[in-house]
Amino acid sequence: MDFSEAERRGLYRAIHERRDVRSRFLPDPVPDAILARILDAAHHAPSVGFMQPWDFIVIRDSSIRRAVQENFERANAAASSLYSGSRRELYNNLKLAAILDAPINLCITCDPSRAKGAGLGRQTVPDTVVYSTVCAVQNLWLAARAEGLGAGWVSILDLDVLRGILGIPESVIPVAYLCLGYVSAFGSQPELEERGWESRESVENLLHFDRWDVRDEARARRLTLEPCVKSKSSSQAAS
Ligand SMILES: Cc1cc2nc3c(=O)[nH]c(=O)nc-3n(C[C@H](O)[C@H](O)[C@H](O)COP(=O)(O)O)c2cc1C
Repeated sequence: MDFSEAERRGLYRAIHERRDVRSRFLPDPVPDAILARILDAAHHAPSVGFMQPWDFIVIRDSSIRRAVQENFERANAAASSLYSGSRRELYNNLKLAAILDAPINLCITCDPSRAKGAGLGRQTVPDTVVYSTVCAVQNLWLAARAEGLGAGWVSILDLDVLRGILGIPESVIPVAYLCLGYVSAFGSQPELEERGWESRESVENLLHFDRWDVRDEARARRLTLEPCVKSKSSSQAAS
């Protein structure tokens, strides 16, 4: 059955208004019924060979979160040292994790050795196992936004140390470490854009036709929405 106009707009609104959140977390508890819905959304992601390579570790324990925070601080100091001058200053002023602020942390893992799917697809391209897990992360991120929950992805971590803290077997990949909870507000643009770190590229500059070396500005422009059209479609969805 087709989506109604309101349903269609709701989907686009979730896509445009999803944010990576690491500020403005509220301590309010997340009801299990809502956590169940977003985990179920993640579990309905596509996966190569229908392998479903993911697991979800729901982390509330504060001593575990403190250990992850220490891991982040060490990794972040190492990352910062790779920049210099004003870039480093800007980097050091960014908030790149909310491990202790968010009431829930969630680690989404990928088990490349899982038997489910009988190897279909991944025999040819092994990385599709990780791609599948990232699809689950994105589903969860969008569902969280629709539920009014913020989610922030923390990748500045030593993954072996993280494995040790969470007891994850060596063969399993911790793909995403997320901070999750209600927030006081969602930003209208990426925090990295707000802070002057990076801006959104235009789709127009990313389009090729039939072959990589064929670019066509006029055709590309016809396939590019004006920013005002996009914001109109999400504000209509809100009303
Ligand atoms: C694989 C991945 C890793 C990320 N790691 C971090 C991170 O460690 N810290 C952080 O603050 N944001 C992280 N982000 C969030 C990005 O900074 C964010 O998605 C981007 O700036 C666009 O903002 P938006 O998600 O609000 O649209 C990560 C995002 C992805 C997809």
